Amino acid sequence: THLPDMQGKRIVITAGPTQEAIDPVRYMSNKSSGKMGYAIASAAAKAGADVVLISGPVSLQTPVNVTRVDVVSAQDMHKAALVEANTADIFIACAAVADYRPESVAQNKIKKTSDELTLTFVKNPDILKDVAALPTAPFTVGFAAESQNVEEYARKKLAAKKLNMIAANDITAEGLGFNSDNNALHVFWPEGDKQLPAASKRELAAALIGLIATHYNENN
Ligand code: C5P
Repeated sequence: THLPDMQGKRIVITAGPTQEAIDPVRYMSNKSSGKMGYAIASAAAKAGADVVLISGPVSLQTPVNVTRVDVVSAQDMHKAALVEANTADIFIACAAVADYRPESVAQNKIKKTSDELTLTFVKNPDILKDVAALPTAPFTVGFAAESQNVEEYARKKLAAKKLNMIAANDITAEGLGFNSDNNALHVFWPEGDKQLPAASKRELAAALIGLIATHYNENN
């Protein structure tokens, strides 16, 4: 796939899951291999951009010419993203951030003495929304993993988080998405949309970088 020339552009990407500690040996997390975000980072670097990849815990190799910042929790990712986004031209939120974290982390391993265990969770910050709300916000791109009414929810998210673009994937599609090397995306922006049919995450990432470059140039 043909890549646009993104030399001189600073692109910040979040990828992978976050882990929210419960006690010293347990955490809550989301299903995410990080493959889509890593493929986007790789495509952006090949297009000549300066790429920072803020990554949750994944077992993937850092793509060539990409600066990787490792984080564990949503709060860590939020902090790193807001710092990096200040000087970014484009921000792409691919991470599967945990929406909630345990209210407190137990100092010691929780023992299995009772038949029931109740934990209280509190809401994590919305990284993407906070980046899009920055006074000098970069061109912001979000992802939406939906299992129904994909277009409706994606359009709502685009407006609610004040994004420039959102890439939706239908998580019920067989053989695509989670942990797969393939995916399909339906990309929406305020005035239009484009379907990127099932392909390898590498090819989709290149197509998405192409779409982002086109619309970034229209806005800047
Ligand atoms: O609202 P929802 O979680 O479905 O939005 C998904 C998009 O928002 C993704 O781009 C994801 O990376 C981003 N997100 C975020 N911080 C959160 C939750 C989601 O950046 N706390």
